[in-house]
Amino acid sequence: MKFDMSKPDLLLIASIYPPTMAQLDAQYNVHRYWESKDKDALVASLKETCVAAATSGFAGMKGDVIRALPKLKIISCFGVGYDGVDTAAAKAAGVKVTNTPDVLNECVADTAMTLLLSTVRRTVFNDRFVREGKWLKGGAPLTDKVWGETLGIVGLGRIGKAIAKRAEGFGMKIVYHGRNQQADVSYDYYADLKEMAKAVKVLLLIMPGGAATEKMVNAEVLAALGKKGYLINVSRGTNVDEAAVLKALQEGTIGGAGLDVFVDEPRMSEEFFKLDNVVLQPHVGSGTVHTRTAMGQLVVDNLTAWFAGKPLLTEVPETRG
Ligand code: GLV
Repeated sequence: MKFDMSKPDLLLIASIYPPTMAQLDAQYNVHRYWESKDKDALVASLKETCVAAATSGFAGMKGDVIRALPKLKIISCFGVGYDGVDTAAAKAAGVKVTNTPDVLNECVADTAMTLLLSTVRRTVFNDRFVREGKWLKGGAPLTDKVWGETLGIVGLGRIGKAIAKRAEGFGMKIVYHGRNQQADVSYDYYADLKEMAKAVKVLLLIMPGGAATEKMVNAEVLAALGKKGYLINVSRGTNVDEAAVLKALQEGTIGGAGLDVFVDEPRMSEEFFKLDNVVLQPHVGSGTVHTRTAMGQLVVDNLTAWFAGKPLLTEVPETRG
């Protein structure tokens, strides 16, 4: 690839929304890390010049790559979650990290509700039922209901609250679990996740990923959720013990699950494909043109702000100060 030496170098760790990559290409000499055959050599070649990187929150940026770029000053991350970025290494190296909060709240909340409703009311199963001609032999099995049931949200942040608002509109009672009870929130708080799992029809995960929440939903939590309950995950695959979820679905020890995220996505056990009590989505929480465009603009705008010496728009708390 030919580079325009008047443009700054930018290391792009992972593929992101194509129109955003086109915007970056217009402003920077973009070096595509994930496509590079010799990644160490690519990074070494940028040692003296590369002050900026961009990535997805999921792919992130590892500490050794951050440390190998001594001139690096900013990592602009596409996604509200940035669990893949080693923020401790960034902070130690004086590198700022930005993410794309708020602009995705409403669309992620729409996705969460779509998954909740289609899992409990078996929309995907029923679609197959019609296509496969089964309706001609009799009606579909009746389902559980959503209205009047309790929704337990794990991670009542900005997106969690947008989900709660929608679920209230569907006549659900909202309860939540998180690190702390929130003073300005009237929903019942559960300090103990297992206790909440016991009490709810739907357990919905929208907390950040990372070490603090890894496998938080394990076999014990699933047992507490039980046959009467449904798991919805629109957060990170790492937040659940995926093997335990598969087992619970296979054995019918939970009612069902709606999963948008996976530990090693886009890969997952093909055993999931055989099950009727799970709805699978390809990590599309924020996946509308409107929202992905807004997220991409924020990625670009944070970089532009940094190069202009202006305050960053959405720096993550870990690298502030
Ligand atoms: C998507 O998963 C995001 O973190 O924005």
